[in-house]
Amino acid sequence: MERIISGQRKEEDLALDSSLRPRSLTEFIGQDKVKENIRIAVAAAQARKESLDHILLYGPPGLGKTTLAHIVASEKGANIRITSGPAVERPGDLAAIITNLQEGDMLFIDEIHRLPRVVEEVLYPVLEDFALDVVIGKGPGAKSLRLHLPRFTLIGATTRFAMLSPPLRDRFGAVYRLDFYDQQAMQAIVRRSARILKVEVDEGGVEEIACRARGTPRVANRLLRRVRDYAQVMADGVITAEVAAEALAKLEVDSVGLDEVDHKLLRAIVDKFSGGPVGLDTIAAAVSEEADTIMDVYEPYLLQLGFLERTPRGRLATRLAYEHLGLPYNRQDTRQQKLW
Ligand SMILES: Nc1ncnc2c1ncn2[C@@H]1O[C@H](COP(=O)(O)OP(=O)(O)OP(=O)(O)O)[C@@H](O)[C@H]1O
Ligand SMILES: [Mg+2]
Repeated sequence: MERIISGQRKEEDLALDSSLRPRSLTEFIGQDKVKENIRIAVAAAQARKESLDHILLYGPPGLGKTTLAHIVASEKGANIRITSGPAVERPGDLAAIITNLQEGDMLFIDEIHRLPRVVEEVLYPVLEDFALDVVIGKGPGAKSLRLHLPRFTLIGATTRFAMLSPPLRDRFGAVYRLDFYDQQAMQAIVRRSARILKVEVDEGGVEEIACRARGTPRVANRLLRRVRDYAQVMADGVITAEVAAEALAKLEVDSVGLDEVDHKLLRAIVDKFSGGPVGLDTIAAAVSEEADTIMDVYEPYLLQLGFLERTPRGRLATRLAYEHLGLPYNRQDTRQQKLW
């Protein structure tokens, strides 16, 4: 099913993603702590005339990992080479990339959790000592040769921090976690994108789009584009709160950015398991989705909204979820039950 509010990149985002991408730290909205840390790290490395420590960026899709990687490189005045975990299939592929790097360059590996294990193992000494061990020849005559590499900075990005092996994690000097954006930041992002796309939108329209975009810039941009189309055809091109609400209702995005799949998931927990707690696999079976997909794609935002809670015994639908679904909340607090 096509999910308009999915943070994952779709075909339709490609052009939008790059035209709306902030180019500098000042232009990058929100994530203040991360920005501050990057600013300090870049200034310190600059002052010492050194390359930056390896950086790991992680967090849900569409929050700005790729954007930040580019920004780090441009703030440092460095060249950036781009690849991704699945693209580096063999150790030889990795060797070809890194032997072409120059001192101070940055290498961006997207989806770094998908690097094959054999490649990852070659990467360890590279990251630690900037040395690459290559074996030349085969059998008893084979020789091992240590190549010394220029000092470069690896920037890894992942949506799955837990899937990175601990030795790889440990080799990053800086680990930055991106969080869903708050309302104020989301509104600023919608305003900025509207300005760049030359879309006329009033403050009500900005708010309406921002609060349905799941704290995710990519989703905000996508919704803005869809609402713009609607406004053009139905309302002289101006996006007001009303126009935005109408357009998004047509796209089946509710007032807090949930779609049919989110509703199905919440309803399953509420109706079939009396609100939980219920195990992830059981929920997955009930809604015919992969447990992994639920964990990576649906759950983070529901947790962020406070509609779901993760407990040791499984997922629990909260009072807020009931209220949002318009259902009476008449369960006892499970923690209270334990106390009695
Ligand atoms: N802080 C921000 N301010 C303004 N726009 C942003 C910000 N972060 C991201 N965006 C917008 O959202 C789009 C998606 O961001 P980006 O591609 O960097 O996300 P990502 O985290 O790399 O996603 P994925 O996990 O899918 O790779 C960007 O092209 C940009 O237009
Ligand atoms: Mg990305």
